Parts: sequence; structure tokens; C-alpha cells
Amino acid sequence: MTQQHWYQNAVFYSLDVETFYDSNGDGIGDFPGLLQKLDYLAGLGINCIWLLPFYPSPNRDNGYDVMDYYSVDPSLGTLGDFTIFMEKANLLGIRVLIDLVVNHTSILHPWFRDARKHKDSPYRDYYIWSDEPKSFQRKNLMLKGEEDTMWSYDDAACQYYLHRFYKEQPDLNLGNPAVREEILKIMGFWLKLGVSGLRVDAAEIMIEDYGQDDVDPKELYSFFNDMRSYALSKKRDAILLAEVNGDPKKMSAFLDDGNRVQMIFNFYLNQHIFLSLVKGNANILAEAMNALPALQADNQFLNFLRHHDELNLKLLQDQDMNAVLDALAPEENMRIFGYGIRRRLATMFQGHIGMQKLAYSLLFSMPGVPMLRYGDEIGMGDDLSLNGRTSVRTPMQWSKQRNGGFSDADEKDLVHPVIRENSFGYETINVMQAQHDDSSLLSWVEKLVTTRKQVPEIGIGKLEVLLSKNKPLLIHAYASKNEKIYFIHNLSDQHINCNLIESGIEKGEVFDVFSDREFNNDTEQEMCINSYGYRWFRVEKNNA
Ligand code: NOJ
Ligand code: CA
Repeated sequence: MTQQHWYQNAVFYSLDVETFYDSNGDGIGDFPGLLQKLDYLAGLGINCIWLLPFYPSPNRDNGYDVMDYYSVDPSLGTLGDFTIFMEKANLLGIRVLIDLVVNHTSILHPWFRDARKHKDSPYRDYYIWSDEPKSFQRKNLMLKGEEDTMWSYDDAACQYYLHRFYKEQPDLNLGNPAVREEILKIMGFWLKLGVSGLRVDAAEIMIEDYGQDDVDPKELYSFFNDMRSYALSKKRDAILLAEVNGDPKKMSAFLDDGNRVQMIFNFYLNQHIFLSLVKGNANILAEAMNALPALQADNQFLNFLRHHDELNLKLLQDQDMNAVLDALAPEENMRIFGYGIRRRLATMFQGHIGMQKLAYSLLFSMPGVPMLRYGDEIGMGDDLSLNGRTSVRTPMQWSKQRNGGFSDADEKDLVHPVIRENSFGYETINVMQAQHDDSSLLSWVEKLVTTRKQVPEIGIGKLEVLLSKNKPLLIHAYASKNEKIYFIHNLSDQHINCNLIESGIEKGEVFDVFSDREFNNDTEQEMCINSYGYRWFRVEKNNA
């Protein structure tokens, strides 16, 4: 058996401490609150948490503007609270990944404060300056509609500085060896505190040589090899998870056959899942799956449907992007940056539980490692009255109690309002209610998570995508020594008959693993896959 790593068979869960659970009634979620909810997460079966940034921050960009890389924002707790949280997570067998946000700092970081003061500051070269704003293409603007330049003038520095995101986030100069040293030091610190890896924020932007005339992009790429070796030298099984919204070629460049990062966000698959769902055409997804770089033990994808940002559709052709936008975000207010959707999954599917289950079943069967986002498991919605991406960052809905059980604070003091008004409000959608209902989405997600962990083949990924006669049916499989595990998903709202043999499914004894309905006859050759139905089953090869 080839070597296996912990992350190949893990189920990830992403959350933001400030919106998860507030332990002291000040309206802001915190580490002691998260500590109290760890048993819930263990019960759900997830085994790796990705924590959004919790560092001291003026919060211009939800914590992605860091003022101090070595500490915890006081509103979320202390470093001591962090270590207690780590200890319990460890006891429960839950690993923790944190964000490494080093494409930029906050404008309030002491490095930038010093750098702007005088040209001979030791920190001046930590950032990227220019006497004139350099030209850039508008299509490369990251936050179109919220930010309209990459170069802002700093009165104290008397120069322009580069910022690929908000102007309060000056870009670090990765061409400067001293900056690289700082980055490694930050990584070492948190790895020594027990985290299992780092999600490298804006990794794709980090390797662009924009504005850094004297930097070789190859060298910037190779810094990822260095970061990886450094991480492994501090913690034997640590991983780097890179945020790269790129096509398979770019994904391969980052993975570098298991020499750069071990894991990469699968934006490519994400966008093709939505396109194929919208079109009811499984061939789109089949092609995307076949185009992915081959999985290896330390060459992995993190697959997801939604996270804390917009559903980004940048990789699709214009007409495909428009088809997804029209179907899932028909109103202008649901869209953002010209290429994204600021809605949660449940609302995009108008609360349709069958479609949500189909989407998660698909996700969990895709080659690689699946990730859920807090609130997905109960079908939480969004609040489009909030600005920008905040729409999908409302507090977790725990119960029917005040503020959805998230906090005892006055409503006006909550970090973001809890969803109350509509059919996605906390009185209807909450953890406590879902836990008492065996037919809830939550109960189903628990089963899905447990099942995924019992199908390690998915994370090893000897993938085979079968040709299907029926456009809406996706049939794929993973082979192991004596058997194959097959997955059939119906992307349409029509029941479809599927013939096992004609579909190329090997003959043998069939064992059902997970499905939306019972399949009575194990040997049935013709089966009906219900609308939005799914079936996972093993076929043991006949040895005769
Ligand atoms: C990606 C993060 O996911 C996003 O929320 C943030 O705005 C940018 N990187 C900048 O750090
Ligand atoms: Ca609090």
C-alpha cells in the first residue's frame, strides 16, 4: 500500500472564531466559546478545522489585515485560550489549520508604520513603493466595485505603495530575503504551538511579480518549496494548503508533483460543479475531473462548494459564467465583483434539501479531500442587506434562543446580525432543532461525513470517469485491489433509468454504501436514479 497521510482521509470544516460562539456575552465569538463547541464538531465527525485569521486586526478585511502575526486579537481571547483550545482539539482527534496571510499586512502593522516614516527605515523594503502609480489592467483588480486601484499614495512616505487588495493592506515585498525570513519565523511559531498546517492566503498573488521589477517569478515559486521544507522541519506531518484560483496547469505548478504545497483549493472543480448543476449536464463535470492533475499522497486537492468569500466564477468562459449567475444569482444584489455570488449554498438552491444533498454527495465523492463551512450542515442562509461578502458571514445558528443561541449580548452589539427574518432564520434553522430530527440535513451530513471516512479510496484517487449515455448522470469510480467503488449522481430533476452493464459498471456482487433511497435488489441491472438522486456502492470483483 502506498504511503498515506492524515489529510488524505480527513474532512475539513472552516469557521471564523468571531461568528461561531460567544462565551462572554460581548457579541463576538471567541476561543473559549469555540472550545465549548468542539464536542459538537467532534460529533459531526469532521477531523480538521481551518480557522480564519484570528490575529490582532483592524478588521478592514475580516481579519485578513494583520497587525501582529504572533498573537490573538483581544476580542477573541488570549494566546492562552488558543493553546487550551488546541489541547482539547488534539484530545478529540481534530487537527487545526490556520491562515498564513503574508501577501500583505495591515496598514497598522508596525513594519508599515515604520516603513512609511523614512526611506532608510529597515522596513522600507518590506513593501513595494513607486514614485508614480504603475499601470495595471482593470481586469486584474481583485475587489472590483470596492477598490479601484492597486497603487495608493502615502502622505508620510511620499510614494505610492502596491496593494493587490484593499488599500489598508499594503503588499509585502517577497523579493526581499528579510521578508521571507519573517514568514518562516511566523510559520515556525504556530507550528510549534501545535497547528497541523497553514492555509496560504492569496498564494496565487504571491508569485506574481507585479510591481517588483527585480524579482524572478521562478524564485517566488521556489519560495513555496522552501516554505514546505521549513514547515516539515518544524512539524513532521505539517501541510501547506494554497489558495490558488487557477486552471489545472496552474494547480500543477503549485503542487509541483508533491514538492511545493501538499494541498491546493480546488477552485477549478468548484466552478465546474456549479456549471454542470446549472446546466444539468454531467459531461461538463466529467471533463473537469479528467483535466485535474493526478492525485498523489502529498499532492492533494481540497474540494469545497462554498467558503467565506464570494462564489468565484472567474475560471469559466463568459457565457458559462453568465449562465451560473443567471441561475443562482438572478438579482444584481446577489452578485459581487462582476464575477461572483455572495450567497450561501442553501439560498442559491432556494432551500431545496434534495439539491443540497446531491451537491454534498457529489462534493464528498470528488477526488481529494472535502470541506464543509460552518452552517452548511444545517442549511444556513445569507443576509443580502449586509455589505459585500459579509452577507455569508453571519453568526452560527445554534438554537431558537435569543440571537440564535450565538450570544447573550444585545442585538446591536453582535459582530454581525444573526439571520432572523425569513425561512432561513434561526427559529427554523438551528443546530438544536436539527439534532432532534433524524430526517434533518444535519443528521444526513453526519452520515455523509462518517461514510466518506470509510471510503479512503477517494483521497487516494485512482479515478475513473465512465461515459454516460444520459447527460445528467455522472458515473465515476475508484479502484482498489479487489473491488471498485462506484458513484452515480443524477444532476437533473427527472428520474433516470440507468443500466449497470451498459454504463460500463463491472459485474460482481454489489454492496450499497450510501444512497438517497433503498435499492432492494443487489443484482438489479436496471436501476432508477431519482431526481437529484445518488448512489455509492461497492462492486466486488468476481474471482471466478
Ligand atoms: C483571500 C481571502 O479568502 C479573502 O477573504 C481576502 O479578502 C483575501 N484573500 C485577501 O487576504
Ligand atoms: Ca466574546
